[in-house]
Amino acid sequence: MDTKLLFQDAASFQTPMLAVFAVDIAVGKDAEPVVALLTTSDAVAGAAAKVLASGEFKAAAGETLLLHAPNGLKTERLLVVGLGKAKGLSVDEVRKGAGTAVRAAKPLGVRELAIAFPEDHALDDEHLETLPCMLLSRVLVEGAEVAELDWDTYRSERKDRSVRALSVIAKEAEKSTRAEIQEGFDAGLIVAAAQNFTRTLVNEPGNVLTPTELGKRAAAMCAEVGLKCEVHSTAKLQELKMGAFAAVAQGSEQPPALIVMTYEPKLGKGESFGADSPVLGLVGKGITFDTGGISIKPGDGMEKMKYDMAGAAAMIGAMRAIAQLKPKVKVIGIVCSAENMPDGKAYRPGDVVTAMSGKTIEVINTDAEGRLVLADGLHYAKTLGCTHLIDAATLTGACVVALGIVNVGLFSNDEATWQKFTDAAKISGEKFWRLPCTDDYKDQIKSHIADMRNTGANRWGGAISAAMFLKEFVGETPWVHLDIAGCAWNDENKPWLANGPSGIAVRSILEWVRAYAA
Ligand code: BES
Ligand code: ZN
Ligand code: ZN
Repeated sequence: MDTKLLFQDAASFQTPMLAVFAVDIAVGKDAEPVVALLTTSDAVAGAAAKVLASGEFKAAAGETLLLHAPNGLKTERLLVVGLGKAKGLSVDEVRKGAGTAVRAAKPLGVRELAIAFPEDHALDDEHLETLPCMLLSRVLVEGAEVAELDWDTYRSERKDRSVRALSVIAKEAEKSTRAEIQEGFDAGLIVAAAQNFTRTLVNEPGNVLTPTELGKRAAAMCAEVGLKCEVHSTAKLQELKMGAFAAVAQGSEQPPALIVMTYEPKLGKGESFGADSPVLGLVGKGITFDTGGISIKPGDGMEKMKYDMAGAAAMIGAMRAIAQLKPKVKVIGIVCSAENMPDGKAYRPGDVVTAMSGKTIEVINTDAEGRLVLADGLHYAKTLGCTHLIDAATLTGACVVALGIVNVGLFSNDEATWQKFTDAAKISGEKFWRLPCTDDYKDQIKSHIADMRNTGANRWGGAISAAMFLKEFVGETPWVHLDIAGCAWNDENKPWLANGPSGIAVRSILEWVRAYAA
């Protein structure tokens, strides 16, 4: 999508469709909705006045209203997009609203769209907390760009439903305000491109996106944005003594890939990093297909296990944006990618493997492979000097049972790190729910013959057992673990997002990284 930011009057902008946001300013739970537009343009407000007065449109989040040939406006159509209640309006509603506008245009065959920049000061302050215009502009672009992506790569006859051009129309404003809106707009394009890059990787089938191919795509991306990238395979795993990661990989014809992406910020004159400066480690589970291995999964729904590399894809996407946003903090992205297959050479239940840290693991179930590859990835990150760790993984079905498909399971061994991440998530709009990983649960991973076992002793709290296992490998290093199994893939279309890979966690991880920037 060719996305532009223009400073001019929305009413006189010639376009097939102009979208404007609306909120419900009625106070009180049972009050009849009172709809107000987030614009100071009298012409735009005037064009919608009659239909809004009818009360038919309530400005509920996701609700849209389409007017043809609106009076007094140059646009061919006016699309009013509801954002819900004005009181407590979050930036995520604006993000979704922009996405809803783009996806509303598609079935109409509208190829060019304009969105009127939400002027929240158009309303009374008592109804709406004024949101920073830089943030508004960023989330608007994020929502629109992410909404544009549809999945027709593998159809021989493609139906082109793309929206080719988007103009964000902000009113003429002071120079400083314009600069802020522009800055948010530029950042939004970067963040959205990263999230879409992640989603595109996750959408790829297992026969196309092997660990080797994932390594190639990561390396190509790194070359494009100027990141250092190394892609290793079996020999390096052996050299590093990554016995847990290697065990998972050994049942596949496809060699594993250990991908290491490094971002070193350029410092200005007189700036330097202290010895105690943070180094952030982003570790992703990259199982390009999870059959379960010898503990093979049932056939029903197994095709979806191509998305078992969504954690890796999130980290690769995040690294892409980090290279472009240039925060002043060192970040290392580590992806452990393998295919989990049953085979004559495959690892088996009962095997004991030695992880890179030296700890021994009794394999109870070869389908609990994610924690094995991450054990070595997390330990390796520490040896590279990472002071803070975050991992993302489609790790357990148990997490989906616990939290459904709304919240990502979040675990942490450090309050300050958890708090930083939680603050970041408020801006990203992504939802996380913290679950415990205190030592009360440690018995779950006790083994009779090795240092630990790779599944819980019983079936209760499976997401926690997995987190307890990972915790053994992070030690004292502050760490956040994201179990994204329930949120990485949407089976249903949403008004603001196509079904399929969601790109979950990319935005929150980026926000978290920014929080550490000097
Ligand atoms: N990749 C799966 C987890 C998963 C399940 C992701 C559903 C997305 C949706 C993981 O490798 C796995 O199979 N975990 C097992 C662990 C069990 C054997 C302890 C699970 O959750 O059943
Ligand atoms: Zn598995
Ligand atoms: Zn898996």
